[in-house]
Amino acid sequence: MSELNKIAIQILSSGKGILAADESNGTMTKRLEAVSVKSSPENRLAFRETLFSSESMKDCIGGVILYDETINQITSSGKSIPEVIAKTGAIPGIKVDTGAKELANSTEEKITEGLDGLRERLKKYYALGARFTKWRGVYSISDKFPSKLAIHSNAHALARYSTLVQECNMVPIVEPEVLMDGSHTADICFSKTSDVIKKCFEELILHKVDLSGIILKPNMILSGSQSKEKISSEEISLKTLKCLKNSVPSEVPGIAFLSGGQSEIEATENLNSINKNNNTNFIMTYSYGRALQQSALKIWSNNIKDIDATQNTFNHRAKMCTLAAQGKWSSELENK
Ligand code: G3H
Repeated sequence: MSELNKIAIQILSSGKGILAADESNGTMTKRLEAVSVKSSPENRLAFRETLFSSESMKDCIGGVILYDETINQITSSGKSIPEVIAKTGAIPGIKVDTGAKELANSTEEKITEGLDGLRERLKKYYALGARFTKWRGVYSISDKFPSKLAIHSNAHALARYSTLVQECNMVPIVEPEVLMDGSHTADICFSKTSDVIKKCFEELILHKVDLSGIILKPNMILSGSQSKEKISSEEISLKTLKCLKNSVPSEVPGIAFLSGGQSEIEATENLNSINKNNNTNFIMTYSYGRALQQSALKIWSNNIKDIDATQNTFNHRAKMCTLAAQGKWSSELENK
């Protein structure tokens, strides 16, 4: 078992999942302003420190993805954020892409940037305590999208990023996110997501990435958010499993889904069905941002000094997601 494989398994095993707290300052400002809190470095740190010091970190969270500002912040107790996270047993990680920009020659689509200077930045993050990283490629669905150009260029960037991360002894999270926006059916999402994931692995293999030392972070197979089609959680899980079984090489140790705009309950219920029906050897867990933090952020914004109330809300959500990662969640548990 390689060192990278050990790290990936440590992050994902025993029903643990990943807390994606890597919102850029721009995204975090939108989230904070939506609950009427000023977006300052101090407030961003206060919310995140509250989550990272929660009791559920120990049993539920295997890894935390940070943003550049956060990994460099020092808490009120004088500890660095990676130290606070590592003390709970979770592994600190870092988002290393610099965002999705217009794709030349297909300007309605996006290409994720951040390869320039990446090798040097990775060394700094490793020294700060990071042991895994994230890079997100983003694809939209329409009758003409994602184009072959977007599928190819994002896969190429994900592969180049992964080689540099492994060279620096960290585990790359490979995140090709096919967005929910649109009125497409789940079958269209299935076929476009399959094309995207297959191309990613073609490029990862071409670049000699050690597939046993990565984590795949895909979207689930869902109907578009403006679609009239409504499918059950059972159907979502079967389509998602079929897509991943057909597109992901067996060496990959685990898959950690993004929530992508699903509600907290939807993301939990769908992950639970996926695990109940899991007929693959992949660990299937969560790497949620909004679906872990949304309620906690609302409670925190009511009184940012009431740490217990925020942590209780976060603990509940993390416990529900961890049960779902083992196929042991049920809706009745939400109200206990
Ligand atoms: O890149 C996306 C985030 O890491 C996951 O966020 O669960 O809110 O989609 P989300």
